[in-house]
Amino acid sequence: MTAKRPQPPTAPLAVRYFFYIVALALLVLPLIAWLENALPFYQAGGNLGFLLLQLPARLFALIGFVLMFFQFILGTRLPLWEKVVARAQNLKRHRTIGKIGFFLILLHGLMILIHDYISAGQLLFDTWRIVGIIALVLLIVAVIAAWFFRPLKLSRKAWRTIHLPAYVVFPLGFFHARALGTELATSPALDIQLLILFGIYCVILVYRIYVTLREKFASS
Ligand code: HEM
Repeated sequence: MTAKRPQPPTAPLAVRYFFYIVALALLVLPLIAWLENALPFYQAGGNLGFLLLQLPARLFALIGFVLMFFQFILGTRLPLWEKVVARAQNLKRHRTIGKIGFFLILLHGLMILIHDYISAGQLLFDTWRIVGIIALVLLIVAVIAAWFFRPLKLSRKAWRTIHLPAYVVFPLGFFHARALGTELATSPALDIQLLILFGIYCVILVYRIYVTLREKFASS
């Protein structure tokens, strides 16, 4: 069977700009929620560890999480989305956004761990921190698979298998954030935003499983 050629995007330019504005709004809302909470602390001064580690780590987590959501839209071959942006462009952005999102989430985890260590004199391992650590380890595995796909000469199947944990990181991060996040606890609008993103993620996941099963049955 010959692979289907990707179709050029057919949606009008206005639709594309609409999605860019939505994407920007999804990044701005967490920033506003964070500023509302963080600015009074920066104005008052005080504990440097909190100001330089904990607060920025929270912002990095929120922005990184939204970028992870974009990753699913860009990385999953959604026919509807490919009408808006060409597949090649989606994949190019998937790689760039993936790197930025990964570094932000990595920084988030490390800065929180360092802050815990400085403020409590030890690393803290409560349930939701452990969920965060598991999510981070899985993310590292998925990112390594993506970055070293060519140098390691991984087969497509091996690459897919190692990249798959990325799908688990998002729900783990979501429940971890709802359990621990200050901005999520204090901004209902942000909480609703993340709930909507999680809902869309679930729909994409079901679609992805359906496509995989269909391909499997078609080839057997
Ligand atoms: C070493 C790994 C991790 C540790 C120790 C950790 C720890 C924490 C802690 C303690 C908080 C609460 C901060 C606060 O509001 O005071 C938090 C929030 C958060 N974490 Fe993590 N985390 C880790 C990994 C992750 C990963 C992998 C993700 C995403 C996939 C993530 C996403 C978030 C988000 C979105 C928030 C909410 C921020 C807010 O509402 O202010 N975390 N994390």
